[in-house]
Amino acid sequence: MSPRREILAPPSAPDGGDPDGVPSTGEPGPIAREEREVDVAMLERDAAVEAGIRPRRLGEFVGQGAVRDHLEIVLEAARMRGQPVDHLLFAGPPGLGKTTLAGIVAAEMGAGIRVTSGPALGRGGDVAALLTELQPGDVLFIDEIHRLGRAVEEILYPAMEDFQIDIVIGKGPTARSVRLELPPFTLVGATTRTGLVTGPLRDRFGIVESLELYGTDELELIVRRSARLLGVACDDGGAKEIARRSRGTPRLAIRLLRRVRDYVEVRGSGTITRTTAREGCEAFGIDSLGLDRLDRRLLDVLCVRFAGRPVGLTTLAVSVGEEPETVEDVYEPYLLQAGLVMRTPRGRVPGPAAWAHLGIEDPGGTDPDAWAGAPAATLFG
Ligand SMILES: Nc1ncnc2c1ncn2[C@@H]1O[C@H](COP(=O)(O)OP(=O)(O)OP(=O)(O)O)[C@@H](O)[C@H]1O
Ligand SMILES: [Mg+2]
Repeated sequence: MSPRREILAPPSAPDGGDPDGVPSTGEPGPIAREEREVDVAMLERDAAVEAGIRPRRLGEFVGQGAVRDHLEIVLEAARMRGQPVDHLLFAGPPGLGKTTLAGIVAAEMGAGIRVTSGPALGRGGDVAALLTELQPGDVLFIDEIHRLGRAVEEILYPAMEDFQIDIVIGKGPTARSVRLELPPFTLVGATTRTGLVTGPLRDRFGIVESLELYGTDELELIVRRSARLLGVACDDGGAKEIARRSRGTPRLAIRLLRRVRDYVEVRGSGTITRTTAREGCEAFGIDSLGLDRLDRRLLDVLCVRFAGRPVGLTTLAVSVGEEPETVEDVYEPYLLQAGLVMRTPRGRVPGPAAWAHLGIEDPGGTDPDAWAGAPAATLFG
């Protein structure tokens, strides 16, 4: 069983500044985060490297064409009116650029940014203190906004709508409510789970954007840009090979690039080519589709252990020693997109590509309806 790993992010929070030069809120709360097959020290190094190559302006942000177009329009309109841009919610799997976009919104507006997260804002007072310290036009970035408590959300509603909050002073019969005016600001929320953002909160965002997994061409551009910034020699074939194995995710592309760089520095000529990229990926257990050990275990459970019968999410997660949310948010988006896993009303089944990838024959044919009437498999049934 691989334990659920939690990290503190951003890594340089103790000195009150995030590695992007973004002032943090000083909120101490750890941001619980699921990560793949890596230890805490590695995540912290990753975060520092990420910060160095994180695009700062919209023009440097690769892909997500629709989101970029929308942002260009709303940012320009807000600049022309001299007002902060409307509240924005970014949703999508980890590592696709939500935090990056929050920083870009602030930079493009020439505004300051305060960074916090849903779990860090435990009490209503936490968010009230943050809001009252904002400067006009500031961006308040709340990561993992689906994890806000109810009391905090209720303070946010009037803050978002009317730029005011009501705070209660004192206790018992002498308690009174005081209304505070806030400077106009932009709330940027990020979530990996749109479904868990409450309706009233979601409705108060003027702009809701879903980020999609990236295409190989876009990832190739990101790999090339990152290689340049990291000072690594990487030819077109090498960039393509890394992009192909990055599961549609810029963060994984950058991480893989760094692992392959290690490999070529120690075992190769120092230049990343198609061949050395392939060898480097394989040395780190990343296969031709970019799957790691846990992805392959998930496929193995579906294809071999349950022989293609529908498997419930919880059973699947328990079988590989992960939390159901981690399987759903971190592993599944790419497996679904690549046709390796399919969701049916009865549970998860392997997609045609899974059998081919594992090199075993599908005992039930590739028809997902073959199991339509079958009960979902459980560990005990
Ligand atoms: N469109 C992009 N172009 C170039 N680099 C990108 C792009 N999107 C993301 N990145 C890079 O990928 C890394 C991860 O991005 P980011 O931290 O913004 O993801 P996230 O969506 O906030 O993830 P999480 O849900 O885990 O917080 C960053 O280092 C960033 O530089
Ligand atoms: Mg983020």
